[in-house]
Amino acid sequence: MSATNGPSSSNAASIAPAQAGYDLYAVIGNPIAHSKSPVIHARFAEQTGERIEYRSLLAPVDGFEDTVRAFVAAGGRGLNVTVPFKLQAYALADRLSPRAAAAGAVNTLRFDNDGIYGENTDGIGLVTDIETNLKVDLAGARILLLGAGGAARGAVLPILERGPRLLTIVNRTASKAEALAQQFGQAAREAGCALSGGAPEAVEPAPYDVIVNATAGSLTAEVPECDPRAFGPNTLAYDMMYGAQPTVFMRHARSLGAKTSDGLGMLVEQAAESFRIWRGVSPASAPVLAELRAMLATPA
Ligand code: ATR
Repeated sequence: MSATNGPSSSNAASIAPAQAGYDLYAVIGNPIAHSKSPVIHARFAEQTGERIEYRSLLAPVDGFEDTVRAFVAAGGRGLNVTVPFKLQAYALADRLSPRAAAAGAVNTLRFDNDGIYGENTDGIGLVTDIETNLKVDLAGARILLLGAGGAARGAVLPILERGPRLLTIVNRTASKAEALAQQFGQAAREAGCALSGGAPEAVEPAPYDVIVNATAGSLTAEVPECDPRAFGPNTLAYDMMYGAQPTVFMRHARSLGAKTSDGLGMLVEQAAESFRIWRGVSPASAPVLAELRAMLATPA
């Protein structure tokens, strides 16, 4: 009853159907070889007894849609979508979930009889990791979101849905944070949350409960500008990035006395949500997160 990883990768010219009795899924991106999604979904399938075959699918940068169509023609039932195709997946979907519509990006596609359904599970993955795995309540919390790109935009609605007291969004380019505050103004009012967006100077000079780094700064070992008084001993400083070592943002936050987490749990939780959307079954994320953590610590 277990899943198989299938071939390590396929491309549009050669997408084989799944083995008999199995449903076909994949993660699509470029590059894709280092994606952890095949391992995660194979474990979910083993746990739940779902008969799925999950592959990694390399699409040419200019060939996303063709590759998706070929995947569907081969019997594909759903895709996880990663860099650089999340905006194209959004455009391709016939129907969008409210979260995907708000995020303006799609990381999960499901191929239904009546068309292509697009969802974005990144933000709910973040929220689930913070609340369930890290045991920090977002209801009533003061939250600071650093960054206003795609990753930040996808997080705003799932955060607001948890009912925080305050959400401050700041970005190096202030106008993008202001635009996000504008876009989600109504949702914030409905959630009873004070939402503001602006330049890094808009950070309140007192500890937040949660600070989420949604900037791409960790990729280049840069810490986004942020008032050090925003970090306190009860602050959870969460970096959406992850790696074998703590990110520069995590090291910075620790030096200011804050608790920290990287984004590995978010990766597993967004996958768990995708699995639920495809299969209607909830996998157990904790053992998979523990296995990935151990894999990170001992690279091949
Ligand atoms: P993603 O989809 O990963 O969010 P993106 O849409 O390109 O990628 O957004 C990157 C985010 O990281 C932006 O908020 C960007 O700030 P700008 O809007 O000012 O470009 C932010 N960012 C990238 N490098 C940064 C750095 N060194 N310091 C602060 N913010 C940074």
